[in-house]
Amino acid sequence: MDIQVAVLDYGSQYSQLIVRRIREQGYFAKLFPPAELPDLEGISAVVLSGGPRSVTEEGAPDVHLEVLRRLNVPVLGICYGMQLLSRRLGGDVKSRATREYGPAKLMVEDDEVLLAGVKDRSRIWMSHSDSVKALPEGASVLARNGAGAPVALRFAECWFGIQFHPEVTHTEDGTRILRNFLSLIPEGPRFSMASFKEELLRRIREEVGARKVVCAVSGGVDSTVLAVLLHEAQVPLHCIFVDHGLLRKDEGDQVMASFAALGVEVDRIDCGDRFLAALQGIEDPEEKRRTIGDLFIDEFFGHATDLELLAQGTLYPDVIESATSGSIASRIKTHHNRVDRILELQKQGKVIEPLAELFKDEVRALGHTLGIPDDLVYRHPFPGPGLAVRIPGEVTAEKVAIVQEADAGFIQALKDSDWYRKTWQAYAAILPVRTVGVKGDERSHEWCIALRAVISEDAMTADWVELPYPLLRDVSNHILNGVDGVNRVLYDISTKPPATIEWE
Ligand code: XMP
Repeated sequence: MDIQVAVLDYGSQYSQLIVRRIREQGYFAKLFPPAELPDLEGISAVVLSGGPRSVTEEGAPDVHLEVLRRLNVPVLGICYGMQLLSRRLGGDVKSRATREYGPAKLMVEDDEVLLAGVKDRSRIWMSHSDSVKALPEGASVLARNGAGAPVALRFAECWFGIQFHPEVTHTEDGTRILRNFLSLIPEGPRFSMASFKEELLRRIREEVGARKVVCAVSGGVDSTVLAVLLHEAQVPLHCIFVDHGLLRKDEGDQVMASFAALGVEVDRIDCGDRFLAALQGIEDPEEKRRTIGDLFIDEFFGHATDLELLAQGTLYPDVIESATSGSIASRIKTHHNRVDRILELQKQGKVIEPLAELFKDEVRALGHTLGIPDDLVYRHPFPGPGLAVRIPGEVTAEKVAIVQEADAGFIQALKDSDWYRKTWQAYAAILPVRTVGVKGDERSHEWCIALRAVISEDAMTADWVELPYPLLRDVSNHILNGVDGVNRVLYDISTKPPATIEWE
């Protein structure tokens, strides 16, 4: 699919969000380093993102103005982008001592084109330290803030700048402003998941040719979508499911049944015993992760002897992260600790990442288009090391069984009460303490279960969910009466930060 909108990334924390908002309007957008503008032929619009620097600083990132002019497409500068255009077009930009951050009012003076239909005095979200003191020649003010400073400019026919962030939801009419800008693209919106799927299939066939693609599946959304996509592309495929025995209750069988229903053949490696044996006596969380990661890689590559290409379910945010941090290693989930073999394959050009342009919600939409059932598409995220990170201390078969049983009851209750879809992630963990209780007339000395349910946007921060007490009561009763070896249930009310979503 041709890229319609290039978003030049000047380092704003919101750059990804701009891309996402534009795609939501049906235009295919991607982030690029500003220096790559000269390579971007055939694009239909350019957006310059915000950024942490001041355009008045020495060495502040620049824009290829001549290239931009030559492209002759609509241009929108956001925050830093607006200051940069103002300065490069001959205006005067001054740096302020303090950064203006937070809500402000948009006083609209010209509601044609960019601000068409935008409410006067609507709320906008600011985060900047520069302001335009003198406009470039030919520019006009479209809106000011409450203090009279220009916050929306028209530099030329189809060139605009806005000081605030239309991509964040705190800006009341932000979506309308982006839509107004995008409506200047003559060919209109061209991005739909159905057409993108066709494009992906075409690309996969071209890239793979007759080579054998090996792909690890886990039952999670990304690897499932990847495997089904490769299957639909009809390339030679070997899907390997390393069942480390640390999955949710019956999950291994469910994964196999789901793939069978989708017509995808999967090679299941049942190696729970080997993982349990390797984990014996290990209590340190990092050592546990390392042990699981190493063994996973050994098991996977031990069965991937026919590998000519490795398919990975890397998503767009991972790619951007690695592009900014400059490290390829960060593209590989922590789960795969021993990544040398993957890095080596990458160097040899033997890794394909068909989902690398998609955000998580887009992967879900693609999964939907591929006919993957909602049950799988909307499944909660699950960590690579599985239940091991929900069993602080040593992992034993007994604890895995208890956690699986307690977790299954909790998740079923959430599904039955419609809370499953409203939570980002929910699970049961087992604490490494036995507490005293009483069962019948006897004292018991048994394990303690912690329930956790969180909401989150991107797993970077999370808040615990205010589940109704009657629901918690039912789940607790179910666990206390139905799961052997447990006599206490807690509900985890910790936010991230300072806690994490998982217990380890
Ligand atoms: P934390 O516990 O760091 O988790 O707040 C954030 C999100 O990442 C998931 N997670 C992992 N995913 N491999 C994965 O693929 C891992 O090693 C791993 N550790 C945590 C976690 O479930 C949550 O969604």
